[in-house]
Amino acid sequence: MNDNRAPENAPVAIIGLGPMGQSMTRALLAAGHPVTVWNRTARRADGVIADGATLASTPVEAVEVGELVILSLTDYQVMYDVLGGATGSLAGRTLVNLSSDTPDRTREAASWAAGHCADFLVGGVMVPAPMIGTGSARVHYSGPREVLARHQRTLALLGEPNYLGEAPGLAQMMYQAELAVFLTALSGLMHATAMLGSAGLNAKEALSELLSFTDAIGAIVRAGEDVPGAALDAGAHPGEPSTVTMMGATADHIVETSASVGLDLALPRAVQSHYGRAIDAGRGGDNWTRIIDVMRRRG
Ligand SMILES: NC(=O)c1ccc[n+]([C@@H]2O[C@H](COP(=O)([O-])OP(=O)(O)OC[C@H]3O[C@@H](n4cnc5c(N)ncnc54)[C@H](OP(=O)(O)O)[C@@H]3O)[C@@H](O)[C@H]2O)c1
Repeated sequence: MNDNRAPENAPVAIIGLGPMGQSMTRALLAAGHPVTVWNRTARRADGVIADGATLASTPVEAVEVGELVILSLTDYQVMYDVLGGATGSLAGRTLVNLSSDTPDRTREAASWAAGHCADFLVGGVMVPAPMIGTGSARVHYSGPREVLARHQRTLALLGEPNYLGEAPGLAQMMYQAELAVFLTALSGLMHATAMLGSAGLNAKEALSELLSFTDAIGAIVRAGEDVPGAALDAGAHPGEPSTVTMMGATADHIVETSASVGLDLALPRAVQSHYGRAIDAGRGGDNWTRIIDVMRRRG
């Protein structure tokens, strides 16, 4: 079973119709795939049924429409909850789980699928639901290379596949790593917006300035290094131009400023502690990248 036929001929099942599952369904329908959907809350399927999807009455019915079964669920436990009664139908299928979870649970799921004679691909979708199917969409995958190759044409309709390797946990680790950057950046943006709010700027004014700065962060981190990360990989933390001590003083000022206007201090204190602990370890003269040692020591 494979979908190396014309893409419009390969039926696809999508299980899970949150915003992400709905967007993926629409992207596949638009490319001509027959899509069968299942969702615990059936009324959430109304929109995609109007667009041409077929509603399965059970997960088994969805799984049995073809080889490719895409899961877009809250986490991996939900996959077991939903497919627990469909295991007799999994042999010969390809499960592509695009749900968030930990690398450990991802590895367990790959073994579980193998135990039911199903191929298993792990995916991490790196764009919000409305961007699925656009030129900017990117999805990290790990698992058997040939399985991705077999479904590449179909999966590329969701976003550009970025294959990371055979180990199932890899895509999930990359997903969580990028989301660690994303979520801390979002918290930083809201903290800073609240900070500027205390000085009378509304969110529109604050975010206009803060987002321009956010866009520049990549260039700032790259400055002075031909290959970002090369010094870190060599265990080098050349102090100039941004030392731990200088950045640590700034981290102190952020805490003080936040306290002076009554903001929550959890986020700035966490950042302050990274620099403080690097300074306590005698690394104040090193580049700010030295705080990675604090992260690696788990506090
Ligand atoms: N939304 C985004 O922009 C975005 C971006 C990147 C990645 N993701 C990832 O994509 C996945 C889906 O996201 P989403 O925004 O579409 O999430 P969502 O709206 O929370 O949808 C979660 C899905 O899981 C189902 N579900 C949860 N618990 C269940 C259970 N016990 N039994 C059966 N079904 C259950 C829900 O069914 P009901 O409808 O019945 O509740 C729904 O179909 C998540 O892992 C998320 O991290 C989302």
